[in-house]
Amino acid sequence: MYKNDGRIFADIHDLWWENEALPSLSSFELSRRGLMAGTAAAATLPTVADAASPAPSDPAHTAKVAVEVNGKPEQLVLDTRTTLLDALREHLHLTGTKKGCDHGQCGACTVIVDGRRINSCLTLAVMHQGAKVTTIEGLGTPDHLHPMQAAFVKHDGYQCGYCTPGQICSAVAVLGEIEAGIPSHVTEDLTGPIRATNMEMRERMSGNICRCGAYSNIAEAMAEVAGEKA
Ligand code: FES
Ligand code: FES
Repeated sequence: MYKNDGRIFADIHDLWWENEALPSLSSFELSRRGLMAGTAAAATLPTVADAASPAPSDPAHTAKVAVEVNGKPEQLVLDTRTTLLDALREHLHLTGTKKGCDHGQCGACTVIVDGRRINSCLTLAVMHQGAKVTTIEGLGTPDHLHPMQAAFVKHDGYQCGYCTPGQICSAVAVLGEIEAGIPSHVTEDLTGPIRATNMEMRERMSGNICRCGAYSNIAEAMAEVAGEKA
């Protein structure tokens, strides 16, 4: 096992010269040239914004999607590869829902679809024909905050705020899951009502990452809304 100190470089150097199976320096040079050529070619690739919102020019790849977003019916013509996240942000301009990883790993894109929380980056908009979608914009307004939004403010449940829309949507749905008696991995008693304990909330919120580490304050906010002790 290599230790993460200055010795690692010496150890790798030794291994390099001892192991004939490792690639020669010249093949690395070739790879480096290939990489440089690839980087130059990448300059002509579409931008992230282009990729997120492909122009629906080819009718074979487009579809009409009807959804209700925050209580408002919406009709969209979308490239069938458009994720729900991109449909919300790029087509409906509801930018409260955030794109963190775009790979289902951070929870920043969490929205509530037909009462269930989902990662909107992992699902295509065309899969939600007729669905009711709630984003952070639909939970409350600056003048009339949702109780969970008010609790996050009161308990300082954020720092930079990037993860917060996803955290709040998730938190609202988590309390709904507990109320509906849906067990989690840490639920001890599967026969009685489930309590919104600190462990329950931490387990259920584990898919929502906060780089600022506001977890304990988020748990306090959720506990207040649930009427439990954090
Ligand atoms: Fe969807 Fe990270 S952006 S999980
Ligand atoms: Fe900054 Fe959560 S408040 S990532």
